[in-house]
Amino acid sequence: MSSDILNNLNPGIEDLHPYEPGRSIEEVVAEYGHSEVVKLASNENPLGASPKALAILSELKSDMHLYPDGNGTKLKKEIANHENVPVDNIIIGNGSNEILELAARAFLNPDTSSIASKHAFAVYKIVTQSAGASMIEVPTCNWGHDLNSFADHLENNTRVIFIANPNNPTGTYNSHDEVHSLLKKVPSSVLVVLDCAYFEYVTKEDYVKPIDLLSEFDNLLITKTFSKIHGLASIRVGYGIAHPTLIEVFNRIRQPFNVNTLAQAMAAVAINDHEHIHQSIELNSQQYDFLFDQLSKLGLECIPSVGNFITFKGNFIGKEMFNNLMKKGVIVRSVDLYDMKDFIRVTIGTEAENLKFLNALKELL
Ligand SMILES: Cc1ncc(COP(=O)(O)O)c(C=O)c1O
Repeated sequence: MSSDILNNLNPGIEDLHPYEPGRSIEEVVAEYGHSEVVKLASNENPLGASPKALAILSELKSDMHLYPDGNGTKLKKEIANHENVPVDNIIIGNGSNEILELAARAFLNPDTSSIASKHAFAVYKIVTQSAGASMIEVPTCNWGHDLNSFADHLENNTRVIFIANPNNPTGTYNSHDEVHSLLKKVPSSVLVVLDCAYFEYVTKEDYVKPIDLLSEFDNLLITKTFSKIHGLASIRVGYGIAHPTLIEVFNRIRQPFNVNTLAQAMAAVAINDHEHIHQSIELNSQQYDFLFDQLSKLGLECIPSVGNFITFKGNFIGKEMFNNLMKKGVIVRSVDLYDMKDFIRVTIGTEAENLKFLNALKELL
């Protein structure tokens, strides 16, 4: 192919690394022929989808020839009830990734920059560079976001700050006070994105109360997802909460039918499935303690996590360990992309899944 067309790529795209999704069970079965594969690679819910959301699937068949509700009326109402904010504060997206992308598209261009922590969720860099902007990376403190120093990195052209709270892949979190004092320091012309994809799993008392910050800061965008605690990663639905003026801006640039009918209907039920949410949190807390303890006893260095995953380091190369575990029927994640070449990230699964992972790991150490 002639390189002429590539010379016309928008700035930033040329040296962009695509997001590497976790390997799927189908791929690994096809490659290695295992009869049983455990996937602990993408921080999904090992209990599966909300049973109440699954139960409504059959009711939806009659609507499949109609476009989705482009306004997301029912789902936004349920989210507004759940978050205790007016509906005008809500936007829904094709996963919370879409909301992150809308933020970048609305505020970033080749003359601007964004700020994020080193080892922060990879999508911030992807959406920044896709918009032609540059990203300023702030060094971490004990693997966590050093929010105290974020404001020192602000440039005149900084338009967006991304905070993953908790962060993936490190599992670290920032307290309410830390987020609040950063917001106080940031000019109101800079958008602060507070990504709370793993919000429900966090049990720390000092964890951020995002909605409390909304009334004080008009430049705040909170993002949450149905992919994690609600177990609905496959149907792609997430949401953003912000001042109505910002929501209106994001609505201008989103696709008209960005969230499909299935996703809207299932998410509207899942958000009220308190039993499933509760069971998922319980399982995660219990299995986190078990897995953290077992990994530590194997001499592995685990980064303490408040999410549904643990990232740990051993005397191995992450990518090699990832491949060797896959050969044994366990899919985890190498975190090379995050400049953490000696680490592996494992999602906290059911007890049986965690045991299968631990047994495979022990054979390889
Ligand atoms: C920190 C963080 N934010 C956002 C997302 C995006 O989730 P989704 O697009 O499925 O809502 C993820 C997914 O892994 C994540 O880890």
